[in-house]
Amino acid sequence: MTTHQEEAPASAEQLRDAMVRELIEVDAARSPHVVAAFRKVPRHLATPELDLATAYQTEFAAITKKDSDGVAISSVSAARIQAMQIEQADLRPGMRVLEIGSGGVNAAYLAEIVGPEGLVVTVDIDHDVTARAEKFLAETGYDQQVRVVTADGECGMAAHAPYDRVLVTVQAADIPPAWTEQLVDGGRIVVPLRMRGMTRTVALVRHGDQLLSDSVELCGFVPMQGAGENRVRLVLLHDAEGEEVGLRLDGHPEPDADGLRAALRSPSVKAWSGVTLAGDESSEHLDMWLTTALDNLPLLAATPAARERGLVASASPLGVPTLVDGDSFAYRTVRRTENPDRFELGAIGHGPQSQKVAERLVEEIQVWDREHRSDRARIEIHPTGAPDGQLPSGRVVDRPHTRVLITWP
Ligand SMILES: C[S@@+](CC[C@H](N)C(=O)[O-])C[C@H]1O[C@@H](n2cnc3c(N)ncnc32)[C@H](O)[C@@H]1O
Repeated sequence: MTTHQEEAPASAEQLRDAMVRELIEVDAARSPHVVAAFRKVPRHLATPELDLATAYQTEFAAITKKDSDGVAISSVSAARIQAMQIEQADLRPGMRVLEIGSGGVNAAYLAEIVGPEGLVVTVDIDHDVTARAEKFLAETGYDQQVRVVTADGECGMAAHAPYDRVLVTVQAADIPPAWTEQLVDGGRIVVPLRMRGMTRTVALVRHGDQLLSDSVELCGFVPMQGAGENRVRLVLLHDAEGEEVGLRLDGHPEPDADGLRAALRSPSVKAWSGVTLAGDESSEHLDMWLTTALDNLPLLAATPAARERGLVASASPLGVPTLVDGDSFAYRTVRRTENPDRFELGAIGHGPQSQKVAERLVEEIQVWDREHRSDRARIEIHPTGAPDGQLPSGRVVDRPHTRVLITWP
């Protein structure tokens, strides 16, 4: 008879070390001070309801609150996203940092990096969240360095301004004036900014009344509440017993919903581009190009049941870029190639103009491949009054407080 000795479960220190190794491997933690902070902060104490191993997974966001519709509205963000944003912030000891959206863990990382000469102010609109954050910061000894405030972050936090960095940890559709006004010239705002339905964490450097990006990364965050709330709108094209297909609109023209519903029920056509992606290659830059180049490109979201029924080729809760033209639409898709590591990009069209719309989307995929494959989008934030003629050419997203401009080299 053989006996198996049970392995002792990994300790928090061992799990933290493994997490940090992974963050370095995926290039999320790069600088020595970021690595040191992630090695030090006992993040598992912020989520006592989770088992230790889950608390230290690099991609795990612990949802701590949902709204009445079941939408997540608060979480302790995934370690990889936290590390990536902190790297984007380019922090140094002694800096003053404003964090919008609390949880405690990220504020502790910031406090570790800016040190005793620096200051961290973390603001959350939800009293339950600030109470959790305060408890974690007291338990871990960061309460002396971090001020926790319950307020709508739309107004920043003038009492402790100016800041060298503003780090936003909630999805924003706009940059409220207070964030820029309370930031030193040359300072940085890192913000998960939603542009035409697509959210990217953008590092923006202040140059007077303009903000210019020097880093844009894919991310997902819970939506902003309060005065700056601005959610995407879902227009359902099909809704039956869990089989949902809908268009997510973010300032896009009002669609011909009846026409598009009929289009979804009609047979589809496919068009292929000859452009391929590696299996592990993200389409995030292509998608930014498509949203820059095409006027009416909302996102088509679908449930797995809708895909199983054959209504759409892929199920994506956030949605895939979809070109809409009147009563027809075409969405981005991929197919396998003879090379098991590469997938060909194409479009699936529906409606009376299906072929034309699918070919138009494919044409723009080819333009990206020919002219922009190794480029990265740049984001500029201009005041609302900036006239079109004074802006560089690109896609302008008009928001209540700013004109967000997406440009390409
Ligand atoms: C992803 S969580 C923050 C994660 C956190 N920074 C951490 O340590 O991982 C986003 C938070 O933003 C908060 N929030 C939403 N709208 C806000 C607003 N207008 N002002 C301040 N906080 C807001 C939510 O209550 C939520 O707790």
